[in-house]
Amino acid sequence: MLELAQKRIVLGLTGGIACYKLAEFVRRAQEHGAVIDVVMTEAATHFITPVTMQALSGRPVFTDAWDARIPNNMAHINLTRGADAILIAPASTDFMAKLAHGLADDLLSTLCVAKGNCPLLVAPAMNREMWLHPATQRNVAQLVADGAQILGPAEGDQACGEVGSGRMLEPDELLSELIAFFQPKALAGKRVLITAGPTSEKIDPVRVITNRSSGKMGYAIAQAAREAGAQVVLVSGPTALPTPYGVLRLSVESALDMHTAALAEAPSADIFISVAAVADWRVVNASANKLKKTASGQAPQLEFAPNPDILADVAKMASGPWCVGFAAETENLLEYAEAKRKRKGVPLLVGNLAQQAMNADTTELVLFDDAGNKALPALPKIDAARELIRAIAQRIPG
Ligand code: C5P
Repeated sequence: MLELAQKRIVLGLTGGIACYKLAEFVRRAQEHGAVIDVVMTEAATHFITPVTMQALSGRPVFTDAWDARIPNNMAHINLTRGADAILIAPASTDFMAKLAHGLADDLLSTLCVAKGNCPLLVAPAMNREMWLHPATQRNVAQLVADGAQILGPAEGDQACGEVGSGRMLEPDELLSELIAFFQPKALAGKRVLITAGPTSEKIDPVRVITNRSSGKMGYAIAQAAREAGAQVVLVSGPTALPTPYGVLRLSVESALDMHTAALAEAPSADIFISVAAVADWRVVNASANKLKKTASGQAPQLEFAPNPDILADVAKMASGPWCVGFAAETENLLEYAEAKRKRKGVPLLVGNLAQQAMNADTTELVLFDDAGNKALPALPKIDAARELIRAIAQRIPG
């Protein structure tokens, strides 16, 4: 997706070992359409060379306030004018202190003061003690008060050998943050609960009954909801997908597990989006040991019981979340989906044709509500998910 098309980003590198991660970041951001102007402090050039960043960004790299390549010699002004954001990554302890105090003694710090309305994103990278130091925390609070957005830091192993908070986000996490920054915040402050993927119903310890669901649509919706500013809990059946950045994932196996997890989370959710392909039946005589083939070749006699309907149960809750259901049909989509919306008692139901959507990267959604139905065009699932989030934001009360 070219979510960063037409976006010009000033990427400021300051002194820290995490500089090496920005080489990869530049490539990934360009794949999403971004144009990147790299500015480096003198310290940053000790960790990665301007030649590397120039070769990757395909544009001149600026390190010096006295650089004569800009005719009016005002790189600190020209670079930020028309830029869509300044991203400081890695942001060192020293550079954050300079930012907090408005110091302007090199090109990067000067352009941060000269930036006008250009948004400032800051990705700290430092040793855990430096991060926890009261002066650093004061500076972070000041930067937030001044309107900067702080990205991370993460916890974990540090280059110095210590473990703790202060690691810079990984390149793909920085990219998720940058993409999210440009998405409209239609669900700011909302809590969104999503079920996704298939469920897996045990026959014996090695065999299960499941549905054909990749989880891609539910995961895309979780990403889109998070980008729109929501706090997202994703209750997921077994899938091979990575958890979307910034989303809390609760992994479950069976429909009963999913029911328990979803009903526990629902009271604190504002919106419930039920995307999971839940097994309609579970095996009640599942075997504790592996079923063996018999000499007579007789197949096991499985007995089934219906699973609870998670969506219908959440929709029935007295002060439960605003509910969105899904219907994957193979035929008569308009008729079946509207009937399902009424049966489940939900204000919005999203229909699609199973044969088109299953395991695919694109989908064609139809939205059903009290006003009728509205078809969205065929879109990559992440774009369809962003459209759906917009549609939900327009419909939720208040
Ligand atoms: O009843 P049906 O499976 O066709 O309905 C689909 C919708 O209901 C989806 O939103 C699905 O996530 C939800 N559902 C559920 N629990 C079930 C069955 C379906 O939440 N046991």
